[in-house]
Amino acid sequence: MYATFGCIHVDNIFFRTQYGVLTNNKFMNYSEKFEKMRTAGNLAARTLDMLTENIKEGISTDQINKLGYEFIRDNGGFSAPLFYRGFTKSLCTSVNHVICHGIPSDRILKNGDAVNVDVTAIIDDHYGDTSRMFCIGEIPVKYKNLIDATYEAMMKAIKILKPGVKLGDIGYEIQSFVEEKGFSVVRDFCGHGISTTFHEPPNVLHYGNKNSGMDLRPGMTFTIEPMINAGKYNVKMLNDGWTAVTKDKSLSAQFEHTIGITENGYEIFTESAKGYLKPPYL
Ligand code: MF3
Ligand code: CO
Ligand code: CO
Repeated sequence: MYATFGCIHVDNIFFRTQYGVLTNNKFMNYSEKFEKMRTAGNLAARTLDMLTENIKEGISTDQINKLGYEFIRDNGGFSAPLFYRGFTKSLCTSVNHVICHGIPSDRILKNGDAVNVDVTAIIDDHYGDTSRMFCIGEIPVKYKNLIDATYEAMMKAIKILKPGVKLGDIGYEIQSFVEEKGFSVVRDFCGHGISTTFHEPPNVLHYGNKNSGMDLRPGMTFTIEPMINAGKYNVKMLNDGWTAVTKDKSLSAQFEHTIGITENGYEIFTESAKGYLKPPYL
């Protein structure tokens, strides 16, 4: 089935969930959805901005969790990870060779560590999901290069976004860029559709072939969140059921933005109001 509602094309059930609910025989215009995604994305980004001032040598990942939880609550939102599929904390802290979903604990960050903090805020039923890397003191130059390449790969993929571009083009941009530098793309986790649910179709792979996969269309909202390893891409899961680490114990980096596809291009919902892009945050 293929139907057109104004400028919104609906050809399967997935696009129904992407574009909103069919109420009174009328689809919600996606500008309302984008307004809410902007609010949620901005709250998540402001949480990371606030944490930037606090993430220093000697802080524990639990303290980062508490600061994030309180900031989101005090600004009218709720932390999406808390109680999500049994997760007991309000954000993820993934240190050094942890790829993603690190659980905040009493671990103290020390000179030479780097940590990904991944924040997801829910506000007005919409989700904003974003993560950045934070460096503690002086980190090895190899790690610095990995972090820079990961940020650049995410931005290269974002910059090509517009209607008609294919989902596989995103993965191609990221994979070709980082593999050229000798790094690898984690396969076991991917970006995802996001709107009034945390994780929804489509899967946004960070590796892939040009001109493959579904067409991007105005109104789609999803994350791009490449996890890039200094060594091989293989993952090992820890016994806590959440923490994913590199199998070869090599360092790993990640950044994440929530974005929307517009008529002519894209909008990043999770941009820093303070201009914080990647470390060092000056
Ligand atoms: N924020 C993560 C993502 O980017 C998901 C974390 S799920 C949690 O999709 F339960 F670990 F918090
Ligand atoms: Co995400
Ligand atoms: Co996230």
